[in-house]
Amino acid sequence: MNNNACYSLFKRFEMPSLSLPNRIVMAPMTRYLSPGHVPSPEAPAYYARRVEGGVGLVITEATIIDEPHATAYEDVPGMYGEEAARAWKAVVDAVHGAGGKIFSQLWHTGAIRKPGVGPRPDLPALSPSGLLMPGVSSGREMNQADIDAVIASFARAAKLATTLGFDGIEIHGAHGYLVDQFLWEGSNQRKDVYGGDLEARNRFPVELVSAIRAAVGPLVPISFRFSQWKQQDYSARLVDSPAELEQLLQPLANAGVDIFHASTRRFWEPEFPGSDLNLAGWARKITGKTAISVGSVCLDNDFVDSSGSYEKLMRGFSDSSTATQNELLESVGQLMSTSAGAAGLHGLEARLERDEFDLVAIGRALIANPDLPKLLSREQWEDVRSYDAQMLAELR
Ligand code: FNR
Repeated sequence: MNNNACYSLFKRFEMPSLSLPNRIVMAPMTRYLSPGHVPSPEAPAYYARRVEGGVGLVITEATIIDEPHATAYEDVPGMYGEEAARAWKAVVDAVHGAGGKIFSQLWHTGAIRKPGVGPRPDLPALSPSGLLMPGVSSGREMNQADIDAVIASFARAAKLATTLGFDGIEIHGAHGYLVDQFLWEGSNQRKDVYGGDLEARNRFPVELVSAIRAAVGPLVPISFRFSQWKQQDYSARLVDSPAELEQLLQPLANAGVDIFHASTRRFWEPEFPGSDLNLAGWARKITGKTAISVGSVCLDNDFVDSSGSYEKLMRGFSDSSTATQNELLESVGQLMSTSAGAAGLHGLEARLERDEFDLVAIGRALIANPDLPKLLSREQWEDVRSYDAQMLAELR
């Protein structure tokens, strides 16, 4: 019997092709600090510092593929071109040097893009139906050639990442970006084979997973990050029952997904009535695959501020007025929760202990505390620093 409050968090984790010293994953976090879509010289130390602090697996910030409509933002990194490849290799080497593993999170922003950014500022957004959400148009609907080009580009990026030494790939299928736009009926109103019921809306993600699996071979772990909520609509849902979740996840698993990363804002919230399993718990139960849970671990607030601006929050303060900054500061997590409640570390520990999910991703608390795992393993609660969004201004 071990009395450490986070005993299960520090158990080794083994699956084919991935062996980790503990259950702690650094959540993918866009930092907008990669000028020219090339990771900055500070990136290797930034990621390695979290591994030195005890993180077992790093998932990189979302990284755009080389399809020319892929990005909605300047200063986010890409997984293409010699310069970015060299910079990512330095990140991989630093993380491996510190004894950690690292996955590359690959990204296409779809309808969230506005013309004027990225390597081809002239181009419009591409998306399943030219829709950001119901009633809000953005760019144009993808034709078959666009779909083929996006899938091929994801596969090329995945191949490049594995060539550079990344230990796995994560597909950003969450939060209302391109892959999620196919899944969500609010943004996918296609009349062809890529639209219609859930099975049809899943066709693009399934083809994407198959192409990435073919590109990286059978051994490289593929994680699929998905969410019910969208930045376009926090109350949106892809599925309303375990049976529907199975319809969503099983084809993805059959196509080659090894890990489901269920993005929720609060890990302690039950997903469906009648059970306290969270979304990651259901993903594991239904597919038997590895599941990552996430959402306000070591924080009391969730990361979407009450005024509903996920983007503003992620971008930090660089382009906000002082009034907005104050509003954001109040809305982001300030408090560490080590309490015995379901939302605290004891609740997390209980879920891990009963194998509800396998791994736990932590975002903001790891921005504030690169050494968070060490502090938790030593039960140094009083040394855990509160997160505030000002910390996003620099890559530390
Ligand atoms: C994020 N999140 C996120 N998610 C993702 O899949 N790709 C990304 O690039 C980003 N970028 C990002 C930046 C910043 C600054 C924040 C705060 C969040 C979501 C993130 O991975 C995680 O799911 C949430 O932050 C919830 O975890 P915490 O912060 O409550 O531990």
